[in-house]
Amino acid sequence: MQIGPYQFHGRFFLAPLAGVSDRPFRKICRDMGAAFTYTEMVSAHGLVHGSEQTESYLDRDPEETPFAVQIFAAEPEVLARGAAVAVQRGADIVDINMACPVKKVCGTGAGAALAREPERVRTAVEAVRAACGVPVTVKIRAGWDEGSLNCVAVAQAAEAGGASAVALHGRTRAQGYAGKARWDLVHAVKQSVRVPVLGSGDVWTSADALRMARETGCDAVLVARGACGNPWIFCELGAAERGEGPPRPPTRDEWVEVVLRHVDLQIAHRQGLDPDGDPAEVERRALRELRRHLLWYTRGRRGGARFRRDAEALRTAADVRRLVDLHFPSEGDGFAVDPALAAGEREVSE
Ligand SMILES: Cc1cc2nc3c(=O)[nH]c(=O)nc-3n(C[C@H](O)[C@H](O)[C@H](O)COP(=O)(O)O)c2cc1C
Repeated sequence: MQIGPYQFHGRFFLAPLAGVSDRPFRKICRDMGAAFTYTEMVSAHGLVHGSEQTESYLDRDPEETPFAVQIFAAEPEVLARGAAVAVQRGADIVDINMACPVKKVCGTGAGAALAREPERVRTAVEAVRAACGVPVTVKIRAGWDEGSLNCVAVAQAAEAGGASAVALHGRTRAQGYAGKARWDLVHAVKQSVRVPVLGSGDVWTSADALRMARETGCDAVLVARGACGNPWIFCELGAAERGEGPPRPPTRDEWVEVVLRHVDLQIAHRQGLDPDGDPAEVERRALRELRRHLLWYTRGRRGGARFRRDAEALRTAADVRRLVDLHFPSEGDGFAVDPALAAGEREVSE
């Protein structure tokens, strides 16, 4: 699997996830075996004008190469200028978001709205390529709604504009994140372009990811909600790729180690961005950012509901340690997975 000059050691990637795929979570997933990761979507306007939030999006681990920054805007010129800034700031690959369904984004003509007309897609990719000189990829949806399933035409337009890969989330904009993703459309796009195709949608388990690759012939699979609270999915996929049996699930101690490591990485990320800030406030902010992850980690476990009830009060790494020990003690069944709970608690929304 290759994008431009970059060869990947595997074909299971962490999808771009707003509010989720920040530096700490990308690091956790890469260490678990994700072959590639993307930043959260970053406003090209924000890149051009500079903002505190933008700094946070561009923060990366020095080992994170190639570094892929996903950008969004409606206008090709703005995308191009934003991409140039992203590259100056270290991006090796620029991905254009043409998939976001959120009203605030689509209302400006960006995200999924940009892909309503293939010709605009081609123009946007051409402009970004010309401006930034690194491989440009796009992420698209099946179409705007059931009546306009244009992903094949959009993928071909992106390729004609010079895109180095196309990722397809097999839902329409109208579906948002509900309903079933159309893997048959991932297959159709794969058949219609020469550049690598990345499939996305309804990849909840490692078995789903393997099945998507097999059934659609896609070159790589984007793991999105399936990785939230479960970065171990990449260990399972690595084992499957090596022809090994499924690895045993993490023990309670291994799980705690990852959760606490994520806490430490989040605090370090925040401290790096705000070295002169009040350390207690920086830590509180990191914990606020981490809250959704902590809720996902505890999803489906017997002690989860009690942990989540108390999670509001988390302010420090020490608080997390205390709460984990309280609700998921070494002795006891708090850590045990309850399959009924796990199925009921799996929704994650943007
Ligand atoms: C919380 C959340 C944030 C997301 N943020 C982005 C984003 O910033 N850029 C993007 O291209 N897709 C984004 N997506 C879409 C995912 O990358 C993925 O395509 C989608 O969730 C379908 O995969 P799944 O059904 O396996 O979760 C987001 C999805 C979720 C749930």
